[in-house]
Amino acid sequence: TESSVKPRGALIVLEGLDRSGKSTQCAKLLSFLNGLGHPTELWRFPDRETSVGQMISAYLSNKSQLDDHTIHLLFSANRWEKRSLMEEKLKTGTTLIVDRYSYSGVAFSSAKGLDIEWCKAPEIGLLAPDSVLYLDISPERAAERGGYGDERYERVEFQKKVADFYQTLGDSSWKIINASDAMEEVEKKIQQVVLDQVKECTEGKPLSLLWS
Ligand code: TMP
Ligand code: MG
Repeated sequence: TESSVKPRGALIVLEGLDRSGKSTQCAKLLSFLNGLGHPTELWRFPDRETSVGQMISAYLSNKSQLDDHTIHLLFSANRWEKRSLMEEKLKTGTTLIVDRYSYSGVAFSSAKGLDIEWCKAPEIGLLAPDSVLYLDISPERAAERGGYGDERYERVEFQKKVADFYQTLGDSSWKIINASDAMEEVEKKIQQVVLDQVKECTEGKPLSLLWS
């Protein structure tokens, strides 16, 4: 039957340790997709522009102290406050590249010792990504990169624990990208995965919800 429904956009999430190269790759991916004529936006979490985001930003730069549970819920709230806009964008055909999402929320808080199921609970009902690309780098290697150590969680011992929790969270649908490869190589691998995913979404792949 004929349908006038617009093909939806894809929800693409990049995850990885601090300084794994996510932000650089997200920017490259944005211009790649826009260059191909796909309506695309780059989002990031935490979104430091909102009032919740400003509280998170102050915490990360050690200007404020918060209980571990409290900051966890603020990170989650920061995703919830963008949820309806996210759904609207996807349904009207915009692909979203998202620099960190619920997996960061769970991995970082679990690495502090919070119960992983407790950490996942507030994420239930957010939109599930079509693709999770994990930029894989050793914590030691990441620490050699510029600007490391500026924010609260940028310590090698802590990032090792975060990496372990990412591994627990990842399933067979995740694409693991070797982030110590040359930047251009990483870029090409990401492009392949994302083009496939954008096509699947265009062909009617339904949106689904976390946490499943
Ligand atoms: P950023 O460097 O990508 O802006 O992220 C800031 C830090 O916040 C980074 O160390 C990861 C951490 N984080 C969480 O702890 N929970 C979350 O939900 C998110 C999105 C990030
Ligand atoms: Mg950072």
